[in-house]
Amino acid sequence: MRNVILIGFMGSGKTTVGLRLSYRLRRTVIDTDKEIEREEKRTISDIFAADGESYFRDRETSCLRKLLQSKECRIISVGGGLPLREENRRLLHKLGQVFYLKASAETIYERVKHDTARPLLQGDDPQGKISRMLAERDGCYAAAADVTIDVNGKDFEHILDEIEAQADQA
Ligand code: S3P
Repeated sequence: MRNVILIGFMGSGKTTVGLRLSYRLRRTVIDTDKEIEREEKRTISDIFAADGESYFRDRETSCLRKLLQSKECRIISVGGGLPLREENRRLLHKLGQVFYLKASAETIYERVKHDTARPLLQGDDPQGKISRMLAERDGCYAAAADVTIDVNGKDFEHILDEIEAQADQA
């Protein structure tokens, strides 16, 4: 049995899909952002503000390494920037079956426009930022993914059905 791993841009639904999938597949769910916040005893915004993005990226890599030590088979949702590092993409492949929840810039903007907890989307022109970052990142997400799920306009039940249909039965 392999872990089911959810990747994708901020606001693509990884956390919600992860939670719902954990009920359906009766597996525990873990979220790398929450894991890092728990270990660091501070929020992602505080980590970015105090120690910068590269410190946070290193924490993501160590979080994946730690997950690789575990024998438990889980649902793992990861921060939107985690698959950008090549090393992380390699670790993700070792860790399990990777599902890319692919959302358009419009879908993402609608979901995150009132959000203040994501430091990379604050400031002027969040819509433009999302489009630019998504265009830069899409290749990395595709390279990391075993399966791509188009989530635009789909309700969560539909997305879960698609993931379940393509998840390894081993
Ligand atoms: C980030 C995504 C966030 C979080 C951090 C950076 C990114 O996670 O890890 O704010 O670079 O895309 P979510 O994708 O869960 O919002």
